Parts: sequence; structure tokens; C-alpha cells
Amino acid sequence: MKTKNTLFILSLIITISIRADEGMWLPQLLNSMNIKDMKKNGLKLTAEQIYSVNKSSMKDAIVQFGGGCTAEIVSNQGLMITNHHCGYSAIAYHSTVQKDYLTNGFWAMNKSEEVYTPNLVATIINRIEDVTAKVLKGVTPTLTEIKKDSITKANIKQIEKESMAGTHYESFVRPFFYGNEYYLFVVETFKDVRMVGAPPSAIGKFGGETDNWMWPRHNADFSVFRIYANKDNKPAEYSQDNVPYTPKHVVPISLKGYNEGDFTMVYGFPGRTQEYLSSFAVDMIMTESDPLKVSLREKRLNIMSEDMRKNDTIRLAYANKYAGVANYYKKWMGEMLGLKKYDAVTKKQLFEKQFANVINADPIMKGKYENIFPQLQKLYSDYKILNKQVDYYNECLMAIDAFNYSRNYSTLFNELKKKQKGLTNTFDKTLEEYKKLGFFKNYNKTTDIKICEAMLSEYIKGVPSGNRPIVLDSFIIANNSDAKKITDFLYSNTSFVDKAKTELMLNDFEKYANLYERDPIYYIANAIVKHYAASVFPQFQYDEREITETQKLYLQAQREIFKDKKFYPDANSTLRVAYGKVNSYKPKDGVEYKHYTTLDGILEKEIVGDEEFSVPSKLKELFKSKDYGRYANKDGKLPVAFTASNHTTGGNSGSPVFNSKGELIGTNFDRNWEGTMSDIMYNPNQCRNIVLDVRYTLFIIDKFAGAGYLLNEMKLVK
Ligand code: ARG
Ligand code: GLU
Repeated sequence: MKTKNTLFILSLIITISIRADEGMWLPQLLNSMNIKDMKKNGLKLTAEQIYSVNKSSMKDAIVQFGGGCTAEIVSNQGLMITNHHCGYSAIAYHSTVQKDYLTNGFWAMNKSEEVYTPNLVATIINRIEDVTAKVLKGVTPTLTEIKKDSITKANIKQIEKESMAGTHYESFVRPFFYGNEYYLFVVETFKDVRMVGAPPSAIGKFGGETDNWMWPRHNADFSVFRIYANKDNKPAEYSQDNVPYTPKHVVPISLKGYNEGDFTMVYGFPGRTQEYLSSFAVDMIMTESDPLKVSLREKRLNIMSEDMRKNDTIRLAYANKYAGVANYYKKWMGEMLGLKKYDAVTKKQLFEKQFANVINADPIMKGKYENIFPQLQKLYSDYKILNKQVDYYNECLMAIDAFNYSRNYSTLFNELKKKQKGLTNTFDKTLEEYKKLGFFKNYNKTTDIKICEAMLSEYIKGVPSGNRPIVLDSFIIANNSDAKKITDFLYSNTSFVDKAKTELMLNDFEKYANLYERDPIYYIANAIVKHYAASVFPQFQYDEREITETQKLYLQAQREIFKDKKFYPDANSTLRVAYGKVNSYKPKDGVEYKHYTTLDGILEKEIVGDEEFSVPSKLKELFKSKDYGRYANKDGKLPVAFTASNHTTGGNSGSPVFNSKGELIGTNFDRNWEGTMSDIMYNPNQCRNIVLDVRYTLFIIDKFAGAGYLLNEMKLVK
């Protein structure tokens, strides 16, 4: 009786915490898991229309863009829409002070003006398959973890190999639910991706870092690219002979808009969530890891922005770097505030206590699962210490560009040694790759010197002598813990941050290798890397594996106890569907936000001369003449962005947001400040995704950029 009662309470907690809108679902399982609920909420499509292996379906128009973002195909000539911030590094790559596409925007006025971007890839999913049984074949409970691991890895390799054999497809297997399930992904990766258009940053990034992760929002965060394929419509390296890709599905675009409460669906590649963590983990993130990373990044950002403001060359060189550092700096800040406000640790603790009661009341359950929480508690008390070391490594030591850059040379030095012993013939090829690195295009020595001094001084304060790499520690002690003195010495004696010297070295590497291997910055950076590789990362990874094993058991137990509950796996950069509705929210007592913004708000936010909030005069003219045409909202205004309750995360940037008929109503680009903790805990009252209204995208392409010819390729639905 007691068990039943606790179980009842527990399931109440679960139903309270997991409600409609939460979840990133596997598209191949919609039919068995979600479709009823989706239809109840307004969806007018079948599961087959969303995902099908045999017929063309919406999934054929969903692209993983550049590895970390999503894009949607909107024409039968491979035209894609993604975010401005997803295309940012490509736009920056093609920009110079003379042809500054970041500032002025870029528009190819015909296909011959579309520009190829090296290393930018577009991946489309061919099929997804459950391979759990095959991956776990031969894995028995009595084997050691190491043995289990090696069997699993071998099985995965075999499955991947077989699935690709004789085809041009690529494939990979990923674990889900901490290894309770495995899925195979067979994909096509297109390597000829060309930039078609991007608005000026004053439009695409309007509001800059100030507005980032915030609502209300007013930027047209989009850019346009095109996939090219060979004559057989297959992926190919860049070539003049390539032709626009013909997709199996084209996303239709709706001009009808939406109302609050309307069904929405996001289809894309969310990167990473950790929804099933224990209270110990959440506590570590909220009280230690997030605050440390935030404070270190803040120092680095202040230095960069000061130099960027003073000098245009530095501004362009650091634009992408800065945006990248700033983005997660702010995200972690929002996350720790949100977790605190939602009382996440207490909620997890309460759940764990009651869950343990249920387990302990049943002898069989108890036998299998009673160690879960004590084990996690113990693991995290060790892991926490290493995690801090790793945070210092990534956010402090490797935040120094010269360290992070020069350490890469260890591979080349080693290759040379092997070559001299006659053990390798790949040295020349590797050397050629180093010549192409392009580090100096985005580097400014004086900025890096300031960062080095600041980071070393944080490191000296934060990491006790016994935890430092010996070489670094003795150097610090010899210099009286004076970060400035150390920095001055390093940068006045190094050759690695000097473009001419680096070129000299690379042009006759065999002659200079000995000399450069003793370079002080290389020497220190290499010693740091070696120390971490020998004394920190092995234990760190070992702990992570133990945590994963325990989490795997924890999820197995949850799925056993809550038989009727639908579980969704954490995001892992694989294709997912999230559904919810157009939805406003109340951020705090006394404040209510509307679910959409308009062009009026851009003029309201304008600050003349401010880098983040200046409004291009052409946009002001369009506002004055109110010439919005078919892009206007019912209220006569020009819609810009809206909020919805779809569960999304990093990687969902650029994801299509569909209405109930599978028509595009917008492009996902952010989350709200109060909801950034949704990677760890989803609060349905506070968590919103932020979407660029596709009518604003079309308006900018058509009326602002004068590239309306692109719309002729699209399927517009009135
Ligand atoms: N916060 C959004 C995302 O996580 C946008 C980031 C790019 N924009 C920026 N201002 N840094 O990617
Ligand atoms: N801007 C994010 C991205 O680049 C999406 C926002 C989020 O993290 O939800 O994927």
C-alpha cells in the first residue's frame, strides 16, 4: 500500500514536470509515440508525411548545416534558409575591410555570383534504424565495463561499415538514453555549399549581444545558402560543373501568419541536453561550473570588445570569435539564474527521495537499483574537482590563443621525428595542412597578450600550486606569481604569434624544428596539454563513463517504474521533432509579454550611432512608407519574431518552424532568458523558443535587398 501511494505521488510529480510541449522526439517513432497527441493539439499531417524511409517526406528537406546548426530547403534548386548567426563564419570568411559583407550584407544576384565556402557542409538524413540489439550483441551483464565497451565499439564499427558498403552514403551509430538504445543514421553529406545572401548585421544581428537570449526580439536572424551536387544529384567536392541540388521535398512557405495557441512544430538537430541528471549534477552546474565559466569569459570578452571598438581590422578579425564566446557566456548566466529561480536542485532531490522509496519497497527493484543515488553522490564528489580543472583548462588556459594555437604543433614535431626515423611518409602532407591553417587572419597579438595576462592571473588565483602542471607551476613560482611578468617574458621570446616567423619556420621546417620546439609558448602549452592528458583527462573520462553507466541504470529504472510515461532521449545532435504552440509568457510578477514583435519595435529600439541598435536608413524608409505588401500582419504591421513553446536547444538554430499543415511560418533562432535552463530542466510556464517570422525574412529579401527573384523559386502559400 505504501509503495502504491508513493508511486502515485511520484507519478504526479512526473506528470507535473513532464507536460505537453516538453520533449525532443525521434521522428521515426512519432507514429507509435506522439502522433495522437500531436493531432489532438492541431497537427493535420500523418507521421509518414513527417518521416518516411520509402517515400519522400518532410525530413528530406531538413539539413544539418555546418555541423552545428539546422537549415531547411525551400526550393527545388537546393536553396536553404538558416540563421544569420549560423552563416556568420561563412559571411566573415568572405568579408574584408573593402568588401565588408558582415556590415553591408551580401546578395548574389544570379547563380554565378553565389560563393563557395570551403569546409562548409550540408548533411541530409537518408534513414534512421534501431540497432540496439545488434550493438549489444555479445554484451552480457557479468562482463567488465571495459570488455562491454570494446564489444559495443566493435559492433558499432561493423554496423557502420555494412550500412555504407557500396554506396556514397556515410553513417554513424549514436547511443540514446545513456546507452539503453542505439540508432544508426545513414546520411548524405554535401560538400559544395554556396553563400547566396545575408542581410547586414544591423538587421541580422540587430540588438547584438544585448538582446541575445532575450525576448522581445527584433533581428532578422537568417541567411541563405544553396547546396550544389554533381550531375547525378550526388554529393561532390566543389566544382564549376556542379549543379543546384534537387531535393526530395521542398518546404512550402506560409504567408498566412498564426494566432496565439496555434500548433507549431520544430524539426532539426538539437545538440545537447541533460534532462535526466541527478540533483548532485545540477547542483554542481548551478553553483560551481556555470559561475566559474561565466566569470572567466567575462574577463576575456571585456578585453576583446575594448580592442574591437578601437580598430576595424580587429573588429572583423574577432567578430566571430567574440560572438561565440559571448553566446555561451550569457547562456550559462541565464541558466544558473533560471535553475535557482525554479528551485531545480530541491525539485530533483524531492523526486530522488521518493524514487528511492519506491525502489526500496520492492525487493527485486532494490536488488537492481538501490545503489543508484549513493553511487551518483559519490561519483560527483570526485568528479566535481576534476570538472573544475577541466573548466580552467578550457576557459582559462586554452582561452589564450597563442597557447591553443601553438600546442597544435606537437603533431608536426612528432611527425618530423617519425620521418627522420623512416617511420612515416605523411609528413609532407601534414606540413602542407599547417601552411593552410589561417590562424593569423583572426589574430591580434596585443589583444592576446592582454587576455594571457588576465587568464594567467585568474589561474594563479584559482588553481592551487599542487594542481598545476609542474612546468607551469615552477614558472609561476619563479616569477613570484606575477602574471604580467610571465606574459611579457612569453610574448617577447616567442615566434609562434608572429606571422612572418611562422612562415619562415614552415618553409624550412626541418631546419628550424629544433629551435621552435624550445619556443617558450610552445613549450609551456605543450607541457600543459601533456599534464592534462596524463593526470586529468584519463580520470575525468573514467568518471564520466561511470556516471554514464549509473545514469543508464537510473533511466532503465525510471522506464521500468513509469511504464505508461513517454520518455524522450536527451539531444545528441541527431534529428528531432519538438511540438508545442505559439505561446506568450509572463517573465516575472507584474509583467506579461506578447507572443510577437513588429517592425515598430525596431524603430523604438533604435540608438543612432550605436553598433548594436542602429537601423539602416533603407529600412527606416520602408517603415515610413508602410509598404509591407503581402508580408503585413492582420494588424497592418510588419511581423518580425514570435515565441512558441517548443523544446529546443543549441543546434536548433535555423530549424524550420511549421504550422499544422507542415508549412514554414518561421526559422528558430533563440530561446528566452527565463527559459535557458531548459537544457537541464524544462519549465512549461517559462521556456520559450524564439522564432524569426518568415514574412520578415521574405520582406527583407524582397523589399530591402532587392533579391526578390529568389522568391520565384519558393513555394509560397497564401
Ligand atoms: N543565442 C543564440 C544561439 O544560441 C544566438 C547566438 C548568436 N548571436 C549572438 N548574438 N551571439 O545560438
Ligand atoms: N541560437 C541557438 C543555436 O545556435 C538556438 C538557441 C538555443 O540554444 O535554443 O542553435
